[in-house]
Amino acid sequence: MISTDSDPTNPGEDGRTHHLDVYERRWMIASVALLVVFAASVAVAGFGLGFQVPGHESRVDPNTVADSPPWNNPGLRDLGNGEYEVYVIGRQYLFEPNEIRVPVGATVTFYVTSVDVQHGFKLQDTNINMQIVPGHISKLTRTFEKAGEFPYICNEYCGLGHASMAGSLIVEAQGG
Ligand code: CUA
Repeated sequence: MISTDSDPTNPGEDGRTHHLDVYERRWMIASVALLVVFAASVAVAGFGLGFQVPGHESRVDPNTVADSPPWNNPGLRDLGNGEYEVYVIGRQYLFEPNEIRVPVGATVTFYVTSVDVQHGFKLQDTNINMQIVPGHISKLTRTFEKAGEFPYICNEYCGLGHASMAGSLIVEAQGG
């Protein structure tokens, strides 16, 4: 019923219809461009900025893991040559240990598991951020080039005491 082509007094109607097609095409180009940007961001984050996806190192039984080595003695292991391992148990509502001390330059591999519910392990100001799932061991490695204190917190809600679940990694200056 509406025929804009034959109505010289209403040229805008046709123009608007035409512009909609242009917008549609622009949106299609924009959505493809966004996908390219997202893919590029993942590549930059993964290869450029060193973001890491925590590996599920192995499976354990959350009911017995705290009684068997090395988890029955959680904490730091000095492997020599500046290499360290640290075993951390998360439970409602604390980390064992809640303090870790390493010298500057230490390369630390974190092994973290939970004996009850799901927790998180986020080491502030670093790329260490892991989901801690009972039955799994989460593992990430990082080298600490500067002295300082890096608090670690549980960043997955795990119950009423969630906010108090924290600890601290202290990187000590050598000779000091
Ligand atoms: Cu453990 Cu929140």
